[in-house]
Amino acid sequence: MTQSKLFDNTSNPSPKTPGTVQERITRLRETIRQHDYLYYVKDRPEISDGEYDRLFNELVELEEAHPELVTAESPTQRVGAAPLEELGKITHERPMLSLDSLVDSLDVVAFDQRMKRELETDQVEYTVEPKFDGLSVELVYDQGVFVRGSTRGDGITGEDATINLRTIRSLPLQLQMGATPPSHLVVRGEVYMRLDDFHALNKRMTERGDDAFANPRNAAAGSLRQLASHVTAERPLVVTCYDVMVVDGPPPASHWEELEALALWGLPIPSHRRRCESIEAVMAFHRETEQQRDNLAYEIDGVVVKVNRRDWQDQLGTKSRSPRWAMAYKFAPRKEITVVQDIVVSVGRTGTLTPLALLRPVEVGGVTISRATLHNADEVARKDVRVGDTVKVERAGDVIPAITERVPVPGETRSASFSMPDHCPVCGAAVAREGAYFYCTGQAACPAQLKGAIEHFASKSALNIEGLGKKTVAQLVDQGLIHDLADLYHLSREQLLTLEGFAERSTAQLLDAIARSKTVSLDRFLMGLGIRQVGQHIAKVLAREFGSLDAIMSGDQDRFQAIQEIGPEISASLVSYFQESSNRRVISRLRELGVSIAETAAVPRETPLPFAGKSFVFTGGLVGLSRDEATAWVERLGATVSSSVSKKTSYVVAGADPGLKLDQAQKLGVTILGEEAFLELVKKQAGT
Ligand code: IVH
Repeated sequence: MTQSKLFDNTSNPSPKTPGTVQERITRLRETIRQHDYLYYVKDRPEISDGEYDRLFNELVELEEAHPELVTAESPTQRVGAAPLEELGKITHERPMLSLDSLVDSLDVVAFDQRMKRELETDQVEYTVEPKFDGLSVELVYDQGVFVRGSTRGDGITGEDATINLRTIRSLPLQLQMGATPPSHLVVRGEVYMRLDDFHALNKRMTERGDDAFANPRNAAAGSLRQLASHVTAERPLVVTCYDVMVVDGPPPASHWEELEALALWGLPIPSHRRRCESIEAVMAFHRETEQQRDNLAYEIDGVVVKVNRRDWQDQLGTKSRSPRWAMAYKFAPRKEITVVQDIVVSVGRTGTLTPLALLRPVEVGGVTISRATLHNADEVARKDVRVGDTVKVERAGDVIPAITERVPVPGETRSASFSMPDHCPVCGAAVAREGAYFYCTGQAACPAQLKGAIEHFASKSALNIEGLGKKTVAQLVDQGLIHDLADLYHLSREQLLTLEGFAERSTAQLLDAIARSKTVSLDRFLMGLGIRQVGQHIAKVLAREFGSLDAIMSGDQDRFQAIQEIGPEISASLVSYFQESSNRRVISRLRELGVSIAETAAVPRETPLPFAGKSFVFTGGLVGLSRDEATAWVERLGATVSSSVSKKTSYVVAGADPGLKLDQAQKLGVTILGEEAFLELVKKQAGT
């Protein structure tokens, strides 16, 4: 059938009366919707871009001339909503569950046996499909029209992403009416970015001077959670639907039929999917998919296995956060082989020397890797990695690429083993050693340490000087405009204007941000000083205990160690930092230049705080408050926050898309709180 027979878009060229305008508009919308479907969902366009543009422009012109006829589901209305102050909250119609993850084939066999045992049958049919590596969304259609959509959030409540989701071209604003869609439909799907689009986006971002996204998932999440939908509209997001959460009328009898129904209504579904009559067939699908993984246009991190029959799904039921009838059968982390071209040593903020392998660039899962950390000298020795060696590199999720092992090549001539330099590769000062760690002794005279120190001082959790990023700091130090932290407050407009990329506006903004940072709380200031071993938490403990910088500066080893959280290493580090005359000089210059450090009322230790002795671990994203805010809340009440779960952990707070920490907590029987329960507990303890 030709295109013109399918969609007659040539009739009624010059509408005159309102009746015919309405008809023409309706017809154009249907035609455009159909072509959007063919292009974005079916990947099978039937008209040229030029023809499509003509239809679209005609609709735009008609709607401009007749604004009273514009409706929300018109294809012209994807972009253009006013930017939001913040994303609102939406409570999901059904909890958005997570999936148990399995990697080991023995666990997969055990899963199948459990299904058979619980269903009292000897054969279970599964549906298998890719596990898309994006972010999960809930999409709501009323009378076939897309009315709202949200991110998963904590599984109960998510962020309202309606205006941003509307910009995704593969998401129909109206379902295929011919297929009589249900009057109420809630669908779950995944929003993600294709690899080629992700690379092109990153290229555009870096050319503009913006930071590139670490991976397609971050790019998709960052794009969907924008406050201005016109930004999302420029980001190449796609959506695939894989679950009917709510439907009025009888639900499809199996997952396979559910996917077919979604497709019939015009929603994009996984094109790569299979019904498997046995767990062996599931394993074959997993194997084949893993082999095809590198040729796919998008990132997947495993396959999802679902018991096909709905009545069986209902019979198996769900656990607290995941269904019993489904699981994610993940792929092993990707590894590639490459060659170590050089081993260089980088110098960090506190002077620590870190060996870094420069690799022959290799693509690992769509991301080009050209360097990998070797952590410290012991690690290099243990793995015996040398320049010229062939090695395996691994990238697991967001983790920084690592060399997992050396691959011996028969007959190879190896270079000398690596050893740490005696002198700092940046400033030439002597290198000192502490256990496995090597330090440059140059301190602020070492440009690498100075740059790191200033970046740290300006960072979000310290003085929070917006606009003072890595590139600017490097220029300031390299051009000799800054020799210590205090020099920041000496910078003039004229000096900043000499920097690359600085014009009047950006200069004024940076000076303003520097001026604003002059009023700072004691804990942030302490944290900003970059004292070894003194991070956000210890800075807060010190501020709470001492109340003023002068009191801290005159503290001695015994006084510091009397504090529960502070051991001999931290107190030694504090004493040596404040004994150093150059550090005292910088602090007094900072004060002279107007940096005012707010004093906090020291909390007498006799009144135990409500969370004293309790420890929290956060996993997943929180919706109503940032991780920093949540940390601040519990720490103010006396708790500590840790990054890993142990038996001693008091609470694990699980937000959106929680990580392995949640599984760990379940295994160890640690109390798990959702965001709501967490807030309730905090409010109760804080007495608010
Ligand atoms: S089904 C009740 N199917 O994986 C079943 N999830 O680790 C709900 N995901 O948060 C999920 N591809 O975002 C399902 N084909 C697929 C999926 C999929 C990706 C994500 C989903 C979920 C995560 C669980």
